[in-house]
Amino acid sequence: MVMFLSILFAVFLASLSSVTGASVLRIDATCGFRLTTEGGFDGAVGQLADGQVRAGSGLAQSLFTWFGDAFTDQQGRGCWWTPPTSVLQCDWNQQPDHGFGIGCYGGLSYRDQEIFYECQTGDSDEVNIYLQPNGANCSRITLYADSCRPPCSTNPTEAPPQLSTTGTPGQDSSRTATTPSTPQATATPAFPPGTCDVVVADGPDEIVLIDKASPDTAYGPNPGMTVRLSPNASAIFAFRFSASDAGKQCALAFDLPAAQDQRAQYRLTGGGLVGFALLESPPKDPAAATYGNRPRVAMPLERAELRPGISVRPLEFPCPGADAEVAFLMADEDGADVCLEYQQYRPVVPIGLYLVKC
Ligand SMILES: *[C@@H]1O[C@H](CO)[C@@H](O)[C@H](O)[C@H]1NC(C)=O
Ligand SMILES: *[C@@H]1O[C@H](CO)[C@@H](O)[C@H](O)[C@H]1NC(C)=O
Repeated sequence: MVMFLSILFAVFLASLSSVTGASVLRIDATCGFRLTTEGGFDGAVGQLADGQVRAGSGLAQSLFTWFGDAFTDQQGRGCWWTPPTSVLQCDWNQQPDHGFGIGCYGGLSYRDQEIFYECQTGDSDEVNIYLQPNGANCSRITLYADSCRPPCSTNPTEAPPQLSTTGTPGQDSSRTATTPSTPQATATPAFPPGTCDVVVADGPDEIVLIDKASPDTAYGPNPGMTVRLSPNASAIFAFRFSASDAGKQCALAFDLPAAQDQRAQYRLTGGGLVGFALLESPPKDPAAATYGNRPRVAMPLERAELRPGISVRPLEFPCPGADAEVAFLMADEDGADVCLEYQQYRPVVPIGLYLVKC
């Protein structure tokens, strides 16, 4: 097995020159971003003329400016949770609230909070955004920034998301980390106790959606890291490695949080087996990847019946080093009618497919 993987990785390395478009994200001192909401209300975040932040289908999406842990709107008005209701608003001559974070997949946090609230305004479908549910007909949302994200890679100088091997699923032992929006996880230990002190959980760098019923359709870039699984739809997950990974042990992990865990939302229906597989290569051109031109399966891995709270470890392997890229497929097995939809990155709790590095 190890030999087989080494050979595969050698192939990956040899084919690296053809893997292009690996966009390198940077943290800029200031940069512009737009927000969307997901959850109780899915939509673009805009503003009223007076600076109040709202989401709604009739609003133009606002461009905000990021200052590392705070933001203003494009006119330079400071955005803050306005007392007493804690509604989000950007006002003239207002110091913006500090304590915001943007995770590597765009999740916005404020201090240790990643779940926010939308409450209806009564103006068409427009909703206000709150830190606490202080309006009418409120529900939970998450907020996503389309830019200004730090890289997901675990460069040791960037305070990598860490979790203790002694953590148990659902425990929140790492919530006090200084980078609240990076993938923090308290996954089931993938390795025997004592074999490593610190484990790093790393989300995929790219997710490509393909559909058997539309074999020639390329679904293109997937910046929201959405995963859709059905009898026809499946997903390819690509992971890139860096020099610091060499010599570590990697485990592929798949988790669905318990149904009552409000911090990670997903939709799961149907039943039957879902299969994981190692692919011969990542898609050559992810933006043009289709079911028809998908990479071939190099090795089928574990199959699992998905249910809330599930935690599977389909593969362990020696982590490859700098610039290697490995891809996995997740698909319904024949006869299954499992439908799963989620956003790969949810702060605090692990969800979906990720790598544990030891
Ligand atoms: C809250 O929901 C109720 C029931 O759907 C509706 O009648 C009411 O207008 C809503 N309130 C606001 C402020 O939208
Ligand atoms: C899957 O694709 C087949 C063939 O195109 C189609 O008949 C079927 O309705 C699709 N199933 C689902 C669940 O979309």
